[in-house]
Amino acid sequence: MCGIIGYIGGGNAAEIVLGGLKRLEYRGYDSAGAAFVADGLRVVKKQGRVETLEPYLKEISARIGIGHTRWATHGVPSDANAHPHRAGGIAVVHNGIIENYAELKAELISGGAKFLSDTDSEVVAHLLNKNYRGDLTEAMQKTVKLLKGSYALMAICETEQKIVAARCKSPLIIGYGDDGNYCASDEPALAGLCDTITILEDGDIAEITQKNIKIFDKFFKPVARLKEPNLAVSASLGLDGYPHYMLKELRETPLSVEATARAFEKVKNTLSAALAGVERVILTGCGTAYHAALIGKRYIECFARIPAECETAGEFRYKNPIIDEKTAVFAVSQSGETADTVEAARLALSLGGKVVAVTNSHRSELTRLATVVVPVAAGPEICVAATKSYTGQIAALYLAAAALAGEKFYLECAEKLKSIPKLLTYTFESLDMRSLAHICASSSSVYFLGRDLDYAVALEGSLKLKEVSYVSGEGYPSGELKHGTLALIDYNTTSVVIICDEALAGKSENAVEQVLSRGGKVAVITNIEGVKKRFTGKLPLVDLPPCDKFLSPLLSAVAVQMLAYKAAAVLGREIDKPRNLAKSVTVE
Ligand code: F6R
Repeated sequence: MCGIIGYIGGGNAAEIVLGGLKRLEYRGYDSAGAAFVADGLRVVKKQGRVETLEPYLKEISARIGIGHTRWATHGVPSDANAHPHRAGGIAVVHNGIIENYAELKAELISGGAKFLSDTDSEVVAHLLNKNYRGDLTEAMQKTVKLLKGSYALMAICETEQKIVAARCKSPLIIGYGDDGNYCASDEPALAGLCDTITILEDGDIAEITQKNIKIFDKFFKPVARLKEPNLAVSASLGLDGYPHYMLKELRETPLSVEATARAFEKVKNTLSAALAGVERVILTGCGTAYHAALIGKRYIECFARIPAECETAGEFRYKNPIIDEKTAVFAVSQSGETADTVEAARLALSLGGKVVAVTNSHRSELTRLATVVVPVAAGPEICVAATKSYTGQIAALYLAAAALAGEKFYLECAEKLKSIPKLLTYTFESLDMRSLAHICASSSSVYFLGRDLDYAVALEGSLKLKEVSYVSGEGYPSGELKHGTLALIDYNTTSVVIICDEALAGKSENAVEQVLSRGGKVAVITNIEGVKKRFTGKLPLVDLPPCDKFLSPLLSAVAVQMLAYKAAAVLGREIDKPRNLAKSVTVE
């Protein structure tokens, strides 16, 4: 998944495309490129960050341009695999995956086409070139008929004054400017550039000139699509003195929980009405959002006593799930654009289920299709690793589950949640992760262990540590340790045991002893007084304030996320943009 932007108008296309690419880097940052119509077609593309491209764009003067920032799917990050791809006088940028590219490529090669990259996207450039008879819009129409998979495409031609865009399953928006028009993979790319946008629908093709925008539907009939205000914030979000966005965003966790609770009040009745009569709940999401969904499952079962299941969205989609009108599917996603989560939600709707979008992005693919939206109000999250959005998701799911259990129970829960922002602030002020971070940074593997809700947080702790510090390990149920994983424990490994459930504390303490007796290093994260007493002075101990067991994941989550942050800092990692990743995963 990648970010794309196009501009045609009276302004400096190179400058506008460059600015847009900088705002889109969260969608991928392993290479970047741009193409312009300026005395013929000019294509510049480079492996690396958008900043690598910047000096080359400074010398270009053009009125038409398209740009791309890449997260590699097919073909390693390299200059050749960077977009745009060119064939003849046509250049194209692509976000998505062309699933039938191998057949198309073989056919094009047998017809004499010369490929310069290993990407799936280059076939689109060759098809456009092959289908071109003097009109790029018609060439695009012929080309998309041949494509299988997902795409947001933008193409320009050296002899035409227009950009032609097409979408199928990957988001694409048009922006209406004063002295020109825009096209981009999402709103942030157009922040500060235009006030009005149109979100294209699947199958749409748009022909964009400086003065005019024509949209055609999948039957190539002209259509009018809704014009909406551009809500993207134009101000760039600063670090406010923090060394990294990850730390800044972690410290914003109390605000995220507070604002999410306030936002929930506004949707509580709509949610309860929409889910009246629901007999089964499935929660889904990817990565960190899936970890929040695991916690949500326990809330729904424990509070509302509704049977609940949880599955990663990528698995859920392909399991022919059993869903009817009495099933609610909670799709959890920070971005609201994650392809697997969006497609899982679409599938649930098509089978007659209700979809609850739990998302930090209040205008996204997910919110557009959901039956009801439960907002996460974490605010913009820049660091690729999710932090405050995860805690916001947990807070939103806590309140949603409580609301399903009835008004009286909801009011009690909402009151309990009010104590959390203060406890989080206290936790940040009292946490000292430095020595544990050094221990983890020098370990061969780090295992995060816990039971029930603590296990869900253990999974998140492990993911976050891997993601930002590249230290390997696993999140594991502490009761399962002795059934296999114990074989991996030695003096080079560290186990971080989370114990925030009094009823299960003794069981997790057994795991601590089992690891110690095999020579492994152990640290304990707990908010239970008895556990603190037992291990103080004997083991590295992360001492959290006591709170309701169901709310403890909010505190233990920031502890494991902070540990990951500190370990990554010890190792000198590029914390806000870990290698091989992107913030928004819009491909399968
Ligand atoms: C990990 C992380 C990812 C995302 C996942 C889903 O720190 O950020 O695992 O949680 O890619 O993204 P969203 O929530 O946008 O659907």
